[in-house]
Amino acid sequence: MRISVIGAGYVGLTTAACLAQIGHDVFCSESDLEKLGKLQNGVMPIFEPHLDEVVEASRTAGRLRFGSTEDAIAWGEAIFICVGTPPLPNGDADLSAIEGVARMIAKRAHGYRLVIEKSTVPVQTGAQLRKHLSVHSANGLSHDVASNPEFLREGTSVEDFLHPDRIVIGVDTQRAEETLREIYKPILEQRFTCPVHKRCEKRREPHLLVTDTGSAELIKHASNSFLAMKISFINMVANLCEAVGADVTKVAEGMGLDPRIGSSFLNPGIGFGGFCFPKDVQAFIRIAEKSGCDFSLLKEVEKINQRRIERFVETTRKELWVIRGKKLAVWGLAFKPNTDDVRFAPSLSLMRALLDEGATLRAYDPQASEKAKIALPTVVYCADPYEAAAGADAILIVTEWPEFLSIDWQRLFCSVAHPLILDGRNMLDPQIVRDRGFHYVSIGRPAVSPNELPLEGKADQSTESRQALEGLLA
Ligand code: UGA
Repeated sequence: MRISVIGAGYVGLTTAACLAQIGHDVFCSESDLEKLGKLQNGVMPIFEPHLDEVVEASRTAGRLRFGSTEDAIAWGEAIFICVGTPPLPNGDADLSAIEGVARMIAKRAHGYRLVIEKSTVPVQTGAQLRKHLSVHSANGLSHDVASNPEFLREGTSVEDFLHPDRIVIGVDTQRAEETLREIYKPILEQRFTCPVHKRCEKRREPHLLVTDTGSAELIKHASNSFLAMKISFINMVANLCEAVGADVTKVAEGMGLDPRIGSSFLNPGIGFGGFCFPKDVQAFIRIAEKSGCDFSLLKEVEKINQRRIERFVETTRKELWVIRGKKLAVWGLAFKPNTDDVRFAPSLSLMRALLDEGATLRAYDPQASEKAKIALPTVVYCADPYEAAAGADAILIVTEWPEFLSIDWQRLFCSVAHPLILDGRNMLDPQIVRDRGFHYVSIGRPAVSPNELPLEGKADQSTESRQALEGLLA
C-alpha cells in the first residue's frame, strides 16, 4: 500500500521504516530541513538500536523515501500523523503541529485519504480532525479519521513495532478498519522478513483491538499514566523501605509474583523521564479536569516523581556532608538506556541541582553526551566512565547502561578520590560493589560499606593503576 508518514521523530521514523520493511511503499516527511537532509543522505538523525539497519534496507529496496509534507500528502492513501505534541505551560498538549498538517491535507489532498493519528493526542482530537477536514477541504477530498496509538519504547522501538503485544485501532467506518487491517496484516500474522530479528523468537501474533476513535485515544493516555503510577508507587515503597530498613527489590519481587500486579515497571529510581510519561501524565490530568473529573491520583504521581531528584540530592548530601566543592562523576545522561534522548531526563534536573550547590561535574554517557552538552555546557563530558570518575568524591549512577555492569572495579577504585557509589537505578549488586571496596548507596535498599576499609588498598595501588590515573587527570 502507498503510505505516508508525517514527521520523522522516534515514532514517525520507526513507523515509516517498519511499514516499509513489511512491504509497503512509504513516503516519510520531515519539516526540519537539516534533519530531512540527513535522512535523504542516509544519515540517521537519532540513535535507536536497529533503526538505521531497517531504514537502510528499506531505502535500498526502494520502499522508503523522504521529502516534504506536501509531497507526502500527495503520495499516500493512508497518512499517519506522527508530529510532536509537546506540553504547553498549563500542561495541555500543544496540537498546533497536528492542526498544521490537517490544514495542509485539507488544502492539498484529493480523492480518498485515511488520516491516522499516531501522535499521542487528547481524547476527541480525532473528532476535531474530522470536522476540520470536512469544513476546510477544497479538492473533493473524502476522508476517514482513525486513531492508532503507538506503544513503542525508545531503545526497543523497532522490536516493539514489529512484534507488539497489541495493536489498537479506533475507527468509525468499515473502510477505515479494513484499510488498517490491511496495513497491519503482515504484523498481525507475524509474516514478514525481519532482517534485524533473524534470531528473534518473539513470533507471537499480537492482539488486535478495534474500538471507536475516542476510546483508542484514551487507551494511550490511560496506559502511560498507569505505568507512571506504578513507578511512583514503587518509589514511595522505596522511601518506606529506607525508613524501616527493608529491601524494596524483595518487596517488588513479592508484589510482582501476583499476576494481577505483574513485575514490570516496579523498578524504583530517581524518577521517570523522557518525552512521554511526564507530558502524558500532565496532559491526562488536564483532559480529566476539562471534562469535570479531578484525577487527583495522577497529581500525586506527578508530585512524587518531581520529588525524586530532591531526594537523591539529599542522599548525596547526607553521604558527602557538604556538596559544595565536591567532584562528582555522573554516569548516564539519557532518560533511559539505549537511547540518546535527554528530553525531560532526570540527569539534567539532577545536574542542575548539584551545580547550584557548587559541585564540579564530570559526566559520561555512551550516546547522549552531545545532546546533554547543549542543555548543560558547563559540565565536563568524558569519553568513558573511568575518565568521568577520575578524582571523584562520589559516582552517581543515573542511567542503567549495561556497560556499567562490566566495569573494571580495580581500575575504578584506583581512579576515584573516594570509593562511594550512589546508584539511582539499583543496577549494581550491593555485594559485588562492597567486595570491591566501595561504599554503596542505592534506592530503597540498605546501604553497604566495604567489609574492611580499603584505605591500605588505596595506598597500595599498583604503579600501573597510579600511572593510568595520573594520565587521566593530566
Ligand atoms: C513509554 C511507554 O513505555 C511506551 O509504551 C509508550 O509508547 C511511550 O512511552 C510513548 O508514549 O511514546 P518510553 O518513554 O520510551 O516509553 O520509556 P519507558 O521504558 O516506558 O521508560 C519511561 C521512564 O520510566 C524512564 O525514565 C525509565 O527510567 C522510567 N522507569 C521505567 C522507571 O523509573 N522504573 C521502571 O520500572 C520503568
